[in-house]
Amino acid sequence: MEKNTRINDIQPFHVMALLARAKELESQGKDIIHLEIGEPDFPTPKPIVDAGINAIKDGDVHYTPALGLPALREAIASFYQTRYALNLSSQRVAITPGASGALMLALGVVMQEGDEVLLADPGYPCNKNFVRFLSGTTRAIHVDASTDYQLSLKHLKKHWSEKTKVVMVASPSNPTGTLLSHKELSAMAAFVKEKKAYLIVDEIYHGLIYNDEETTALAIDDNIIVINSFSKYFNMTGWRLGWLVAPESLIDKMDKLAQNIFLAAATPAQYAALAAFDSETIRILESYKSEFKQRRDFLLVKLKQLGFVIETEPQGAFYIYANCEKFSDDSYQFCYEILENIGVAITPGKDFGENNADTFVRFSYTTSIKCLEQAISRLSAYLG
Ligand SMILES: Cc1ncc(COP(=O)(O)O)c(C=O)c1O
Repeated sequence: MEKNTRINDIQPFHVMALLARAKELESQGKDIIHLEIGEPDFPTPKPIVDAGINAIKDGDVHYTPALGLPALREAIASFYQTRYALNLSSQRVAITPGASGALMLALGVVMQEGDEVLLADPGYPCNKNFVRFLSGTTRAIHVDASTDYQLSLKHLKKHWSEKTKVVMVASPSNPTGTLLSHKELSAMAAFVKEKKAYLIVDEIYHGLIYNDEETTALAIDDNIIVINSFSKYFNMTGWRLGWLVAPESLIDKMDKLAQNIFLAAATPAQYAALAAFDSETIRILESYKSEFKQRRDFLLVKLKQLGFVIETEPQGAFYIYANCEKFSDDSYQFCYEILENIGVAITPGKDFGENNADTFVRFSYTTSIKCLEQAISRLSAYLG
């Protein structure tokens, strides 16, 4: 008899089945253009790789403190000074196994069983599953172009309930690449504070904001919990390293929970990340960023010309969330159709929630301009 409803409530990513099919087609010799994957295609910059190799050679392979290497916590705090002119105590920084570990740690400390968490739909799919895993509930608020696919103060006021204890946002967002303005975020932070709840801001795509100036939520209020990672801007997805910045009052609790749920983040990855803020590394990362921008600019224009509707232009990350209604009212089916027929792999809207999911797809521009051009010409021939 099936009893464990918690694990049954947690859904796998639909795109994983699509990816498996794409690999199968590749093994049969078909050429597949991958626009479904949410990770950069660039290599980890050499200074980081070298630092990681040296750490392993030097035998730096033992556990670090649960909150991470003090030197890395310091380096991250200094990065906030360099990048955002923000003075931050390294005591507020916790190193985690990716942003995933940071999200789990943050929710694990601030949530109680039965608490409600507000989040945006469409949004990063794992968040609702983390909350479910911790025996909380989520209220997925449908967002649209009128708020750049982000939560707003109006949403919070409308959907707040007695059980609401946490609000989660991401800027830039996955899947839409859209930003939350500093003004709106400040208003939301003040409201959440007044309610004695927590605001978690996922800044994992920071560093990949193309036109706007970058500001961090930490500049707004010390009570905000900020999530970040070495996965995206730093091109270190597989190293499994991230961090969070929390109010000082929560850090001991995070230490205790981190000791128990993952002991510490991977040690060689932490040593490698010490080189992540060097000037040579940043130079390489900025060159990757400008390549991402070129890809975005190219794909945005071409997808619109093809008839995809993109109401709010993505300002960051490496995603375009596009309405495909002109071609299909079943985006899941549409993704399989174009995979099978023209070898272009994209992600169906239903991986990001239920809000108009059947008419949206996500394109990741995590492949070269040459491949993007090929994808567009295949789409054009097929849909045209
Ligand atoms: C918004 C967002 N947050 C968190 C993560 C988790 O990233 P990681 O655990 O690799 O740092 C992702 C990954 O795609 C993401 O898109």
